[in-house]
Amino acid sequence: MVNVENPIIVEQNYCPDDQNCHNQGRYLLCTATLAVQSFKNPALTLHIDGTLVAPSNYNVIGNSGTWINFQRVTGVSVIGGTLDGQGANLWACKNSGKSCPTGATTLAFYNSKNIMINGLSSINSQKFHILVYGSQNAKLVGVKVSAPGNSPNTDGIHVEKSTGVTIMNSKIGTGDDCISIGPGTSNLWIENVACGPGHGISIGSLGWELQEPGVQNVTVKSATFTGTQNGVRVKTWARPSKGFVKYVLYQHLVMVNVENPIIIDQNYCPNHQNCPHQVSGVKISDITYQDIHGSSATEIAMKFDCSKGNPCSDINLEDVKLTYKNEPAHSSCINADGKTSGLVQPNNCLYN
Ligand SMILES: *[C@@H]1O[C@H](CO)[C@@H](O)[C@H](O)[C@H]1NC(C)=O
Repeated sequence: MVNVENPIIVEQNYCPDDQNCHNQGRYLLCTATLAVQSFKNPALTLHIDGTLVAPSNYNVIGNSGTWINFQRVTGVSVIGGTLDGQGANLWACKNSGKSCPTGATTLAFYNSKNIMINGLSSINSQKFHILVYGSQNAKLVGVKVSAPGNSPNTDGIHVEKSTGVTIMNSKIGTGDDCISIGPGTSNLWIENVACGPGHGISIGSLGWELQEPGVQNVTVKSATFTGTQNGVRVKTWARPSKGFVKYVLYQHLVMVNVENPIIIDQNYCPNHQNCPHQVSGVKISDITYQDIHGSSATEIAMKFDCSKGNPCSDINLEDVKLTYKNEPAHSSCINADGKTSGLVQPNNCLYN
């Protein structure tokens, strides 16, 4: 610590002029930042009892990026409790098309190491519920995330530029991705997660930048998707990029009435802006789907829409069984190469 103004600071009483912070009988927390600390022996453990509540006026934290923010910490555990982001007013503002603050992520770890989040509930975040960015070795266990299916940008857990993150035994329902995986993520393990409502578990969007670190070694095991927009998705912008996705294993997944149970979309370009007539440069390879079954809410249960400039390769399908209205569902492949083994239904459309 060299000349740091507030070496260790947990600030629970931030409320300039005593405005916008009415206590609601729970525990109002306007913002908290903990920065540049290494806790080794003993590690720092924060037990949260009861509920911490964000200011209901979204202007108070809506432009601050993060509500509860850890930066460059080592050895921090957050145990128990509930975080209530009170996002409803901000979502209403966003859904009305007015110009509104971006919204704050509820809980973020930036550039940190050896993190544990255990038994935490996060509800109604303004934006992402939990963010792990630029970090190494984080364990998220028994996390519950809940926000309505129509709440914009309320991703459950977003992991980016991080390695060695484990997410287990968690239940996530949101208006956006249950778990989203950004560029530069490796050695990510996701196991025993229930997702829905929401947009599924998504790698991407990737490939916005030309120089972008890749995503590799991701395992998604024993997850259930209920009424979600996607099951497991890989999504890349149709823009030039040096990014990649490789060594991904999807195993033992159950789909219940999911719109797109298995999907790779390399032509993502909302409103045809910022990528007209371009193809994705992101190379997708070595993606395995093993023991995936259940029901699709649309006819096409399996869709590989890969880049014309950089086709998907080594997609492996093994024991996949997806139905639509109790009949075998259909598949669609563009620029996708791979192989199948065991029963695969919908019919394989990969070229070999
Ligand atoms: C892949 O990630 C897992 C953790 O999710 C790790 O145990 C394993 O060693 C990694 N494999 C490689 C080849 O890095």
